[in-house]
Parts: sequence; structure tokens; C-alpha cells
Amino acid sequence: MEACHLAVVGATGLVGQEVLRILEERGFPVGTLTLLASDRSAGSRVEFLSRSTVVRELSKEAFDEVDTAIFAAGAEASHDYARQAAQAGALVLDCSSAFRLHPHVPLCVPEINPEVLQRHHGIIAIPHGMTTQLALALAPLHAEATLARVVVSTYQAASGRGRHAVREFDQQLRDLLNFRPVEAEIFPHQLAFNCLPQGGAFVDNGHCEEEMALMDETRKLLAAPDLPVSATVVYVPLAHSHSASVYIETERTLSVPQVRDLLEQAPGVEVEDDCREQEYPLAIHANGRDEVFVGRIRADLSIPNGLHLWVVADNLRKGAALNAVQIAEHLAS
Ligand SMILES: NC(=O)c1ccc[n+]([C@@H]2O[C@H](COP(=O)([O-])OP(=O)(O)OC[C@H]3O[C@@H](n4cnc5c(N)ncnc54)[C@H](OP(=O)(O)O)[C@@H]3O)[C@@H](O)[C@H]2O)c1
Repeated sequence: MEACHLAVVGATGLVGQEVLRILEERGFPVGTLTLLASDRSAGSRVEFLSRSTVVRELSKEAFDEVDTAIFAAGAEASHDYARQAAQAGALVLDCSSAFRLHPHVPLCVPEINPEVLQRHHGIIAIPHGMTTQLALALAPLHAEATLARVVVSTYQAASGRGRHAVREFDQQLRDLLNFRPVEAEIFPHQLAFNCLPQGGAFVDNGHCEEEMALMDETRKLLAAPDLPVSATVVYVPLAHSHSASVYIETERTLSVPQVRDLLEQAPGVEVEDDCREQEYPLAIHANGRDEVFVGRIRADLSIPNGLHLWVVADNLRKGAALNAVQIAEHLAS
């Protein structure tokens, strides 16, 4: 791979920082590095490969001569600047929700649908972290037995809502343990020692934005526009790694050993499934790992072709930063 001029938009955030860690770990050939954020942290310094780089304020001029720009600064910044970056000649890998469902923007997880990368017009969208891990577990089962229905309930960590959400969660824990009153601003209610069945604002049909995104993005990623998918998003009192209880029905019967085999062969997926040893995926073990872990694989007892899975992954790595870097690697190879 040739060394490239890479820009990270949102370099001071959770995903931006993880992108930098992953670029270092994987030896991605960064020739020039441009780090961008809002005016709040412009002028601060960020370490990359033992060199300290000054963070600049995001502006449309920032993309002159940039080859690849990883956007991890929220949908508003992507709406405002991603097209300009693409027009300036940069390939935009957008981690935000801004373009994920746009019909002419590919939504990509390289292990699932690398072919869509050939059809981009300067912007490629990275799915929501929860969608990525769900779709990685579903794709091989869909290819083998055709999914007829998916029902997913998530158990998402605070970091899914950014660094201020983690700080708020952390503060709530400290306040509660010190008998102080608890405040909630990012989350609608106290998250510490609690479960919140809400991800983003509610839309007219009673679902919240993250539920709609999970359903729509899963259909787009699996190229299954008519697949019935239902989602309930729940934030749980964890800092990192999202988990999900997934129920599927397939058109053709899959035995549990078959499901295990298919998932064991699936790239990016690791099966942890031995109930005799009480072995199954755990959020605390997924932290910092690249794989999507699947376990508790079992047949539903109430319906012939129903199956249950438990799916866990680090939302900042495969759920965002790693996926973006893998796409950059794929296109550079
Ligand atoms: N967290 C996850 O699990 C996850 C997973 C998949 C996708 N994503 C997506 O990735 C993006 C970043 O998420 P995050 O969790 O890293 O959020 P975060 O921790 O809150 O970081 C946000 C970053 O964006 C910058 N930023 C915010 N508004 C900006 C603006 N108007 N102009 C320029 N920079 C701006 C912030 O810079 P300052 O330091 O200047 O405030 C910061 O660097 C979001 O779109 C999110 O939906 C997140």
C-alpha cells in the first residue's frame, strides 16, 4: 500500500481516537496526517506513532490534498463537510448516520458486502456499531438458509453515545456511590444501575431512532430489502461493548451444529458457545477485541425454524473504527 494523506475528523472523540490506535496497530501507511475537530479542541495535541500532532478546526479547506478522510464527528459535521471533502478529491469514510441509508451511498462491512465498494461516488458509509455486529452474525446464516425474520433486543454500552455519555455514566456511578444526587443530560434518565429502553429520539411509530436505524441498515447491508426485522434498543450500565439477544427464523432448517459451523467459518466472527462450561460471549471480554463474538446458540422450542443467538462486540472497534480502517485497506490494496 502506498503512503496516503489521511484526515481524521473527530480526532479527539472516542471513535477518532480508536481509529488512530488501529492505524498504528495495523501499520497503515499514513504519509501525512490531518487531525480535525470542532473549535472546542482546535489547538490541542494528539499523539500518533509517538509524534504529537496539532488538532485543527474542521473547515472545507482542510481537505485539500487529502486522499482519505475518516469522518467520526457526528451527522451534522458529515452533512456539512463530507460532500465538500469528496469534491476536493478525498475518499470519505463516514462513521456517522448522515448517509447510511442514502440510496447512492454504499453501506459497507467488508466481510459482508465488499462489492459495494466499487460503486461509491466519493462517500462510503459505515453502519451503526450494533448493525455491524448483528449483520456479521446474520450474513452467513442468511446465505445458507435465507432469513425469514429477525427480532433483536440490544444491551448497549454508554460509549455508543460518545465520550460525554461515558463521562456522564462515570459521574453518575461516583455520585450514587457517594450518596449525591444524580444528573442526566446526554441520556434521558440515570443510566448507572439502570436500563434505558431508548436510543435517540422517538419517531412517530413509537420506535426510537436507533431502532429504526438497526432495522433499515440491517436490510441494506444484507441486501434484503423485504426482510422483516424488529428491534428494541436498550442502554445498559456498561462503558464499552454492545451485546444483543437475537431471534431468527430461517426459510430452510438449520441445526445448531450447522449454525456453529457456519459462524466458525465466517470472517470476523468467533464462536464462544459451550454451555456445559458456562462459556458464552461477555462484554468485558470483547473490550479491545476485533472479533464479533457469538454464543448461546440454540433452537427455539416453540417454532420449527427459530433460533436464538447472543452477539457481543466492541462498539468502538468493529462497530466503527476498525470497519473504517478495513475499508481504507481494502480500497488501497
Ligand atoms: N461510539 C460508537 O460506538 C460509534 C459507533 C459507530 C459510529 N459512531 C459514530 O461516530 C461518530 C463519532 O462518535 P464518537 O462516539 O467518537 O463521539 P464523541 O466521542 O462525542 O466524539 C465526537 C468528535 O467529533 C468532534 N466534533 C463534534 N462536533 C463537531 C463539529 N461540528 N465539527 C467538527 N468536529 C466535531 C468532537 O470534537 P471536539 O473535541 O472539538 O468536541 C470529537 O472529536 C458519530 O457520528 C457516531 O454516530 C459511533
